[in-house]
Amino acid sequence: MSSIRALGIAFLTCLTTVSSSFTMRVAHQQRGILTLDFDPTKPANSSIRVLSTTEAGYKPGWLHARGDKLFSISRKHFPDNTSDSAGVYSFQKMPGGQISFIDSKSSHGDGGVYVDISPDGKTLASANIDGSTVSVFPLSPDGYIGEATHVFKYNLTHPGPGTGDSQQIANPHEAVFSPHGDLLAVPDRGSDRVYLYQVHSTGQVELIRNMTLALGTGPRHILFSPLSRTKNLMYLVSEIDNTINVFSLDHPSLSCGNYRSDLNETLKITHLQVVSTLNSSDQRTKPQNIDLASEIALSNDGRFLYVSNRNTESLDDIDTLAIYAVAANDPQPLRFLGLNSTHGKIPRHFSLSSDPRNGFIAVANQVTNDLHIMERDTKSGFLGRIAGQVSFGDVDLSTQLGPMAVIWD
Ligand SMILES: *[C@@H]1O[C@H](CO)[C@@H](O)[C@H](O)[C@H]1NC(C)=O
Ligand SMILES: *[C@@H]1O[C@H](CO)[C@@H](O)[C@H](O)[C@H]1NC(C)=O
Ligand SMILES: *[C@@H]1O[C@H](CO)[C@@H](O)[C@H](O)[C@H]1NC(C)=O
Ligand SMILES: *[C@@H]1O[C@H](CO)[C@@H](O)[C@H](O)[C@H]1NC(C)=O
Ligand SMILES: *[C@@H]1O[C@H](CO)[C@@H](O)[C@H](O)[C@H]1NC(C)=O
Ligand SMILES: *[C@@H]1O[C@H](CO)[C@@H](O)[C@H](O)[C@H]1NC(C)=O
Ligand SMILES: *[C@@H]1O[C@H](CO)[C@@H](O)[C@H](O)[C@H]1NC(C)=O
Repeated sequence: MSSIRALGIAFLTCLTTVSSSFTMRVAHQQRGILTLDFDPTKPANSSIRVLSTTEAGYKPGWLHARGDKLFSISRKHFPDNTSDSAGVYSFQKMPGGQISFIDSKSSHGDGGVYVDISPDGKTLASANIDGSTVSVFPLSPDGYIGEATHVFKYNLTHPGPGTGDSQQIANPHEAVFSPHGDLLAVPDRGSDRVYLYQVHSTGQVELIRNMTLALGTGPRHILFSPLSRTKNLMYLVSEIDNTINVFSLDHPSLSCGNYRSDLNETLKITHLQVVSTLNSSDQRTKPQNIDLASEIALSNDGRFLYVSNRNTESLDDIDTLAIYAVAANDPQPLRFLGLNSTHGKIPRHFSLSSDPRNGFIAVANQVTNDLHIMERDTKSGFLGRIAGQVSFGDVDLSTQLGPMAVIWD
């Protein structure tokens, strides 16, 4: 008996040692999907190892992991140079960190930037920023992508005040499912709108609402955070005015289990707050194209919210993550705490580590072509020492071909 227990303890000790390292994936525009091993017990300059590289079309730009599958979207040229459309891809995660190609389909639009899977795993949605489309597909349990059931095209009546080409056409930047699985949200940077679809069944969605934001907001990404069975907070990060707008979404019919029939009538949207991603004393910057807020994430304990800022004005300055304390039930849930460095330029994406306490944050710095992993102080929310850093090659400011997204297994 005691020897069996001893064996058990020895086995557990062994498991603990193994699980101190993380598997991560990076979508790198020049190199494909990289699988990495991160061992936080090693020194920062040797804690990250590239385990494998997988081809995933022209300039892979977004990753989504679900169970033992991985999904990505390429920027364009799917299946070859004769096409401007992007492509959606599915992969099987293999033992030892490799991924194995399963399927791919045209995303029906140029500029693939986002792919998401419904909570039931049966519907895939992709956003194509330059083609102004969002496509919806049925997805089989073994990762095969069906023919598109919808291709939505977005329009602009007038160009917005955003500088450069940021608001010249409709720019759907994301197609994201709510945690309850009843909504699909599409922020359109170009038109300053968020489109809300009701999800009816596999591959079947219907436009029920659109939310109009102030001119020059530039909505980019949404984070849903469930408060109850009938209520979500919706945090919207916008890149042209560098704000987070917080909304509450009440759908009373959810509790009766019949939301599918009357969501449009019952869904109540309330605007709660707007805060700057740069500094709380500056609520909204005038529409421009300089600081470009990009990604948004919430810690598992619900206490801290993070947003990345990409400063395009000075290539010498470091870029930042903005950190907020969250009081989800307050009328104004966010309180700005401060900024920390991303140790590189143009942090297009970042993500919190997959351990329950989110002990680390990984940042993909697109222009300096590197990945930085920082410790996260779970009490204060601030970032601490660099626990890992790796360069993916030369920094080429004219082509900016570095990493686009990073996720943890
Ligand atoms: C890694 O960092 C250590 C400590 O800062 C340093 O001594 C070592 O030379 C570095 N190694 C490489 C390969 O840069
Ligand atoms: C496709 O594009 C790549 C990269 O620009 C180029 O190297 C290749 O020759 C092109 N192929 C065709 C068939 O045009
Ligand atoms: C954009 O215009 C096309 C063509 O008129 C139309 O089919 C589509 O519904 C419009 N999109 C939206 C979101 O209104
Ligand atoms: C949703 O509700 C709004 C306002 O009540 C209404 O104008 C609109 O036609 C409805 N849309 C659908 C798809 O039922
Ligand atoms: C947005 O919603 C408003 C109000 O329901 C409606 O009048 C308008 O046609 C909608 N616009 C689009 C593009 O769906
Ligand atoms: C916010 O901006 C104000 C005014 O420009 C400045 O005094 C303050 O130091 C800034 N705070 C932070 C945390 O950056
Ligand atoms: C992050 O910002 C906080 C608040 O300004 C600061 O105390 C902390 O030292 C910063 N972390 C790093 C690694 O610089």
